[in-house]
Amino acid sequence: MASLPREQWSSRYGFVMAAVGSAVGLGNMWRFSYLTAENGGAAFVVLYLAITLVVGLPVLLAELTLGRGAQKSPIRALAHFGGNRWKPLGLVFVAAGFLILSYYSVIAGWTVRYALSGIVFGFDGDAAANFGEVATGWDAFGFHLAFMAGTIYIVAHGVSGGIERTAMILMPALFAIVIALAFYASTLEGAGGGYAYYLETDFTKLSELDVWKAAAGQAFFSLSLGMGAMLTFASYLDRNSNLPAESIVIAVADVGIAFIAGLVVFPMIYALNLSSDVGESTVGALFITLPKAFAEMGGVGRGVGGLFFVALVVGALTSAISLLEVVVSAAIDGLGWSRRFAAVVLGATIAVIGIPSAWNTNILGAVDEVANNIFLLGGGFALAIFVGWWMADPEGEVAQGTSGPFWLPIWRNLLRFAVPLFLGFVLYFAIPSTWRTVASLF
Ligand code: PFF
Repeated sequence: MASLPREQWSSRYGFVMAAVGSAVGLGNMWRFSYLTAENGGAAFVVLYLAITLVVGLPVLLAELTLGRGAQKSPIRALAHFGGNRWKPLGLVFVAAGFLILSYYSVIAGWTVRYALSGIVFGFDGDAAANFGEVATGWDAFGFHLAFMAGTIYIVAHGVSGGIERTAMILMPALFAIVIALAFYASTLEGAGGGYAYYLETDFTKLSELDVWKAAAGQAFFSLSLGMGAMLTFASYLDRNSNLPAESIVIAVADVGIAFIAGLVVFPMIYALNLSSDVGESTVGALFITLPKAFAEMGGVGRGVGGLFFVALVVGALTSAISLLEVVVSAAIDGLGWSRRFAAVVLGATIAVIGIPSAWNTNILGAVDEVANNIFLLGGGFALAIFVGWWMADPEGEVAQGTSGPFWLPIWRNLLRFAVPLFLGFVLYFAIPSTWRTVASLF
């Protein structure tokens, strides 16, 4: 068994950047925009914000509390507070890490390819055909492997030397790029149609269950909740950290970047008259419509598009390292493996699991649906029950490092009642529909 002292973040800022790096990723730019388009614009956005606040934030604080309290990776942290019978839930978290990173890295590979070829050669006007080539087969597989290699490299360098250092450099750059792009988009003629689409709310959409399912899945995916990623990162915090403050910073940064990304994507698409492409949005929409827009912008498009995809690569990388860290930390704690060995062996295994997603975007879409609708929402449900009902004194644990905020009982009650009820309701609908998606592959 490893007897080395547990790794720690070197500063509070470093932890926050790493956690924000986990949250902000393809979810904020790729998934958020395509789901917003698919689910009718602003109604979806409002719902997503509400769910993040009422359901996501309490679960985020629950994960941070478990991780910092136990100072252990997910499987052992659950056993620490709940006994061995809770270990299987930790195993499900690790399985989710394998599953999500396997296809996340394929999409990240597309973004690397687009960033490189966009900057070097310019964007291809025949974006749909280009996407077909980039997104599947050996091309997709090669970039997926390269991206996994980068992720493994960083995780192998440890918590403060690899993950924290990477996030501290890359996250401010990502913020700067996304904000600059939003300003640029606002100067385009015709951007107004995009804002209208994005920001005008059609409340009738809220009667559709699919919209609720998508918004709940997105809230969890975007905040990296329901599979122990935030728990794992919090396990490297010292016991005096102020967890409520950290949760709020993470959630605000995550929602903020998603929202600003929308202010980039929709005005650009409308300014270039590509809005009809957005209606029938799918996994690939962003990778077809936006390059088309960048190609039409000419020389400027090369710079603007290049920066956009660089931001996506950065976001994807800092999220992927948190996904791999869940799996790696479990092997270090549970099997006594060295960090380097765990990163290489488990990262390589994940690369192999990603092969079907690299060959077929329908498989990729189905894996994404299973991961979000079942694993993350189910994981969030179980975490709420665990911290709400099972754990002895979660309020006391949070109160370490703060002055014991008055709303702690409200938080506990949200975890006991509102969060499981809401997630139970969504899962009730999500399980059969996800099953149909998977069955339709065969
Ligand atoms: N939050 C990441 C994103 O929005 O792209 C994805 C993610 C990372 C999900 C880590 C889950 C996770 F544990």
